[in-house]
Amino acid sequence: MKKLRVILDEREVDGNPFQPDMWRIVRRYPLTNDVNFYQARAVDVDRTLLMDYLPGQFVMGSVSGDGEAPFCISSTPSRPGLLELCIRKMGTLTETVFSLKENQTIGIRGPYGNGFPIDKMEGKDILIIAGGMGAAPLRSLLLYALDNRDKFGKITYLHGARTPGEMLFREEFMQLKERDDLACLLSVDEDDTGAWTEKIGVVTKLFDEMEPIDAANTYAAVCGPPVMYKFVIQRLVGLNIPKHQILMTLERRMKCGIGKCGHCAIEYLYTCMDGPVFTYWDVLHMKELIGKGVSDNVIA
Ligand SMILES: Cc1cc2nc3c(=O)[nH]c(=O)nc-3n(C[C@H](O)[C@H](O)[C@H](O)COP(=O)(O)OP(=O)(O)OC[C@H]3O[C@@H](n4cnc5c(N)ncnc54)[C@H](O)[C@@H]3O)c2cc1C
Ligand code: FES
Repeated sequence: MKKLRVILDEREVDGNPFQPDMWRIVRRYPLTNDVNFYQARAVDVDRTLLMDYLPGQFVMGSVSGDGEAPFCISSTPSRPGLLELCIRKMGTLTETVFSLKENQTIGIRGPYGNGFPIDKMEGKDILIIAGGMGAAPLRSLLLYALDNRDKFGKITYLHGARTPGEMLFREEFMQLKERDDLACLLSVDEDDTGAWTEKIGVVTKLFDEMEPIDAANTYAAVCGPPVMYKFVIQRLVGLNIPKHQILMTLERRMKCGIGKCGHCAIEYLYTCMDGPVFTYWDVLHMKELIGKGVSDNVIA
């Protein structure tokens, strides 16, 4: 896979690393009330070919006049040519992106960030725990592992949402439950439909439904709201998964995405380049990594 540095160097030859490429939205539909799914293809085919990424990396998305923001990649590099994003309506930029229709374009630069350490994860069992919007980057990892099924051991996917209507990719994950080469367990805090057939309760309850794991041979990947981390990490540590094999995707405010502005710096680390994926070991040794106030939630 083409590494981040190579891509940056190629862009710098072009003269401006901040110049976005235009991507045409080929599919767009709501995942929940305030989250839309976008599938896009680069207008310049060569740029599509350059968009080789790792699960867990992000792009900077922009609309002229409304700024730029980081968005995790939800698609998998094992299905090249299309970029998939899940965007929650939050403020200026995301409201504009919400109003974009199929066939309109969005500016994209990247991919940026470290992504998941796929080379180390291959050959191991994979336990993925997603909460809310955390499913956006973790779907990339899950689809990658399923597309390369023979390279991974057991795959377990745990996904929690507040209600069935707030579960990203609900139908897609329900279909995965039919497969016999992974365990896919879904839960909602509250069933406001009366039609939910899966577990009710917080996502950590799903740990009780899992088959025993081989901790030393397992990589766990976690992404979700800050409050979820503490309880999930407690369970993972309780299962004896080594701290350097517990991976978390963390968010910091970012401006440039390429280690130039310092907005995301914590001590000597740039979240945009050294992250957004960190190990639990990293977090224990750098509590500021997840921000004041949030760290209490993450440190088990
Ligand atoms: C690595 C990374 C990956 C991300 N991936 C996604 C994604 O896949 N989908 C998605 O919808 N969003 C994602 N985000 C968040 C998204 O980039 C921000 O919400 C962005 O600010 C939205 O831009 P806006 O102009 O619409 O909102 P703004 O007008 O910038 O902000 C709206 C509100 O959100 C608050 N806010 C903005 N950024 C943050 C932040 N990082 N943490 C806490 N509060 C914040 C602001 O204070 C304000 O209250 C990601 C962020 C990071 C750092
Ligand atoms: S966002 Fe500018 S240095 Fe990380």
